[in-house]
Parts: sequence; C-alpha cells; structure tokens
Amino acid sequence: MEVLLAGGAGYIGSHTAVELLNAGHNVIIVDNYSNSSPEVVRRIQKISRRSIISYEADVRSKTDMMGIMEAHAIDSVIHFAGLKAVGESVKNPLEYYRNNIDTTLNLLECMKDCGVHNIVFSSSATVYGEENPYPYKETMPRGNCSNPYGWTKSMIEQIFEDAVKADPELSVVLLRYFNPIGAHPSGHMGEDPQGIPNNLMPYVAQVAVGRRDHLIVFGNDYPTPDGTCRRDYIHVVDLADGHVKAVEYAAQHKGAEVFNLGTGTPYSVLEIVEAFERSNSVPVKYEFGSRRDGDLAEFWANADKAREVLNWRASRSLDEMCRDTWNWQKSNPNGYNN
Ligand code: NAD
Ligand code: UFG
Repeated sequence: MEVLLAGGAGYIGSHTAVELLNAGHNVIIVDNYSNSSPEVVRRIQKISRRSIISYEADVRSKTDMMGIMEAHAIDSVIHFAGLKAVGESVKNPLEYYRNNIDTTLNLLECMKDCGVHNIVFSSSATVYGEENPYPYKETMPRGNCSNPYGWTKSMIEQIFEDAVKADPELSVVLLRYFNPIGAHPSGHMGEDPQGIPNNLMPYVAQVAVGRRDHLIVFGNDYPTPDGTCRRDYIHVVDLADGHVKAVEYAAQHKGAEVFNLGTGTPYSVLEIVEAFERSNSVPVKYEFGSRRDGDLAEFWANADKAREVLNWRASRSLDEMCRDTWNWQKSNPNGYNN
C-alpha cells in the first residue's frame, strides 16, 4: 500500500514509517517540521535502506495537500500531525484547536476530493477523562478532558465519527495511545523534545546523560502502591507495529473503529526510574515535588480488542523500553542536532 504519513517525521510517525517499510508498504511523509527535522527522514532511510518521498508542507494547506494527493495513488493516510504539549495547550488553546482540528478537516476534505477512503488517527487515552474506571475499555464513553490538547483529541474523534456516518465509503481507525516511550533499537531514531521535556522518560534520559541535574517526581502522596502515579508505558516500536495492523485493517473495513494501544500493565514513576537505573547501570537523581495540575493518579489500558481484532499485542518489556531509550540518548545526547 501507499501510505501518506501526515506528521510522519515526528516521534511516533518516524517509527511507524520504518515498520511500514519493513512490512513491504511504501510511505510518503508530509511534515512542516514544527516539532521535527528533515534529519529524521534521512534516519528512516538509513535504517530501512529504502529511499522515501517526503514533502515539507503544512497539512492545513489545501493547495499543498491536494497537490500531494493528486501526485500519488494514496491508499491510506495516517494522521499524526498535531501539537501535543498539554501545558502549552492550556496557555495557547487557540493555536492547539486551530492546528489539530484544521489538519484533520483539511485531510478529510482532500481525501474526499481525491478518492482516498482510509485513515488512521493518533488519538490518546486522555479522551477517557476522569470519569471512567480503569482499565479503560473502548466501549466506555469519552469523558471530560482536563486541557485543550485533550479536547482536540475528543473533538476530532467526534468529527471522524460524524464523517463516517455521512460517507459510507470512509474507513476510520482511531488509535488511543497510552504512554509511548523507548526508541528504535538501532539507536538512530528516538524522541527528541525541544527545550525542557514535559514527559517522564525523555526527562529521565536527559538526567542520566547529564543534560539535567535531577528529575522532579510530581507527587508521592497519590493513592497508589508507592504514592507515585501509574501509567501504561508502551514501546514505540510496538506502537508502530500497531499502526501497520491498523492501516491494513482500515483498508478492509468501512466505518469507524476505536482501539486502545497499550500493554495493560501500569508502572509507577518510581518503578520507571528504578527500571532505567537497573537496565542501564546508570544513576538517575530525583527529588519529590508537588503534584502536577491535571495528572490522574493512575490509568491503564484494557488491550483485549486490539489483540482480538487486529491480532496485535505489545511484546517489548519495560527493560527493553529503558535500554532502547538510553541507547538513543547516549548516541545522540543532543537529539537530531548532533
Ligand atoms: P511529534 O510532535 O513528535 O510528531 C508530530 C509531527 O507533526 C511533528 O513532526 C510536527 O512537526 C508535525 N506537525 C504538527 N503540526 C503540523 C502541521 N500543521 N503540518 C505538518 N506537520 C505538522 O509527536 P508524536 O509524539 O510523534 O505524536 C504524534 C501524534 O500522536 C500527535 O497527534 C500526538 O498528539 C499523538 N499522541 C502522542 C502521544 C505521546 O505521548 N507521544 C500520546 C497520545 C497521542
Ligand atoms: N512525571 C514526573 N516528572 C516529570 C514528568 C512526568 O513525575 O518530570 C510523571 C507525571 O506526573 C505522570 C508520569 O510521570 O505521573 C507520566 O507523565 P508524562 O508527562 O510522561 O505522561 P502523561 O501520562 O501525563 O501524558 C501522556 C501524554 C499525553 C497523553 C497522556 C494520556 O504526554 O499526550 O499521556 O495518553 F494525553
């Protein structure tokens, strides 16, 4: 299949590109590099030993996206192109709504005009909100999100659901990611946050490599076994494999389907720190700080549906997640700007 990856130079898109190429598909990347760089495309080609087509373009541009879709016989789109920093979305809500929703509407309109019927979307476990009991199951209703970023995901899911009702040809797969971490085992690709990392694993890795002095663990008084928050961390290559299955599924079905992509097992912040130290034999200095606004104490996935319907399950261990993160971080201490 010819798969167009909108936002394909980002952390999850780049790993998905490699796994799609490994599975025998062709990929076309469109990215404006607002949170990535053309170097990522070179790394994808290096790992896969395949040459790929990429465009520097804004997914919100009708002219650019029509030109790209008309130039290639696209079978499916995967929509990764979004802004994703939760705190920033609280400060700049309009930028988040504008970017995340406009990219979606423009992709759907261009797909309709070009006769492309299949799309996979990067949604998030955040759409379950605070109301639902964990583990989260796809049959639960979407809940209230604590920030504009989360609301963009919830609204976009609704947009897709309405679009499939109106267009019997359309096939949509909504993937609700839990907490992707890790890196490609080659050490050539990984997560490269700009500035101070918001997320736990990149912060831990930057402390270990000496770029940051210590981690602040946000809260140790939660009602969890060790008092720190628990999440369902999933290796980014497992997540990427889930996209290969999802894109193949979308091509065979019509309508909208939702899948959780998680492992089904939660780990606490302290367990992550300990696993990182143990598997890499490096110290990670940390201190306890106050709770971060909007954090839930714990949640994880019920991952049964993806296993039963997509024949996919996460297979990589927490130690592999930590080892691959460290391999990437120590070979690329400054990310892609080496
Ligand atoms: P990322 O920032 O690394 O990748 C997103 C890519 O989209 C970047 O390369 C960025 O330059 C590009 N982009 C953004 N707006 C664009 C636009 N208007 N036009 C063209 N390109 C644009 O993020 P990621 O971690 O790879 O996440 C991919 C998707 O998955 C995002 O939609 C994100 O919200 C979602 N998601 C991520 C996580 C996570 O923890 N990483 C969890 C749940 C959902
Ligand atoms: N944490 C720290 N210190 C840090 C960073 C994080 O203690 O410096 C803690 C957080 O408090 C939380 C855990 O580590 O308990 C995980 O935090 P992340 O920021 O890595 O991940 P979140 O679960 O907050 O959010 C992630 C994605 C969101 C997505 C959400 C639900 O970043 O995009 O999962 O899927 F919406």
